[in-house]
Amino acid sequence: MIYLDNAATTLHKPARVVEAVTAAMTSLGNAGRGAHEATLGASRTIYEAREALARFFHAEDPRQVVFTCNSTEALNIALKGILSPGDHVITTELEHNSVLRPLYELQERGTELSFVKSDKKGRISCGEFENLIRKNTKLIVCTHGSNLTGNLVDIARIGETARRQGILFVVDASQTAGVFPIDMEQMNIDVLCFTGHKGMLGPQGTGGLIVRKGVGIRTFKSGGTGVQTYSKAQPREMPTALEAGTLNGHGIAGLLAAVEYIESHGIDRLRERELSLARRFYEGVCSVPGITIYGDFHAWERCPIVSLNIRDYDSSEVADMLWEGYGIAVRPGAHCAPLMHQALGTVSQGAVRFSFSHGNTEEETDTAIKAVRELSFV
Ligand code: ALA
Repeated sequence: MIYLDNAATTLHKPARVVEAVTAAMTSLGNAGRGAHEATLGASRTIYEAREALARFFHAEDPRQVVFTCNSTEALNIALKGILSPGDHVITTELEHNSVLRPLYELQERGTELSFVKSDKKGRISCGEFENLIRKNTKLIVCTHGSNLTGNLVDIARIGETARRQGILFVVDASQTAGVFPIDMEQMNIDVLCFTGHKGMLGPQGTGGLIVRKGVGIRTFKSGGTGVQTYSKAQPREMPTALEAGTLNGHGIAGLLAAVEYIESHGIDRLRERELSLARRFYEGVCSVPGITIYGDFHAWERCPIVSLNIRDYDSSEVADMLWEGYGIAVRPGAHCAPLMHQALGTVSQGAVRFSFSHGNTEEETDTAIKAVRELSFV
């Protein structure tokens, strides 16, 4: 198999991640639930993971790192826990349903919602956020990188606007965490939502949100925490305020190993490799007759994603032909980003998304180029 569906989930995890999960599954107890070796081991591993993530994303305090099962859960906790009826929120047409659906639910309950529009290449103007600000604007939420076009968003600039205007800034880093350096302090990010299983190279079922100190988020779920058993209310201290029930210690052990892998190999080196493969693919297919490519390829700094269509062929049929004829795994159809598809004009056709990881090779990339060329002449 030539796996080019890394924006959905990275398939080839570093050996040390697999080993860490395996070791955790035979050694970790339940964190914070006692004082024997197994429970202490779990507590230590989970705290080390909080420390590693705080270091990795330049957050001020490891206790502000909250674990969730993915970025969808993190975004739900942040958006539903901060916004109230009467608040105004600004987002963009680039967003994934993990941002849009919680916002639409909140809108039903009286939160006001505005969108920064996308052009046909999936670009937004960062200046637009400023124009949409109202007296009751509480929060800006936006993706750092589109899962459909791969276009990056200048979150440092938006963070600067948000800070200057006294508005909270929530970032969906699903496609960029582990690929691009993210500095919460420098970029003025109040809540960073990330998943563990994509660019972070960790296991599925891991992810989290990192909350700037002083940002109030209402409890999303309550239950056992191992502390303050006799209190009727969920403890208010972070991270327990936003975590209840047994954590995914096995997955978190893998996520910790994944952060260490990225740090030891160098995030810039890994990304350069991914970008050069994606660029090689783009250049190999961009001038093929009948190919439409989505997104802005003027910028070198973009997610390692190339989404395209071949003539008016249904994207799912193209993906099937790539799989059956060449063993190439991609994602077709609608990519959970409905407004982005509308802006690109791909609502009915969908798009065939090729997404690269540093483990892919030039040979695999060239096979994908050859396949696209051949299918364009079918
Ligand atoms: N959000 C993931 C993707 O873009 C699953 O494929």
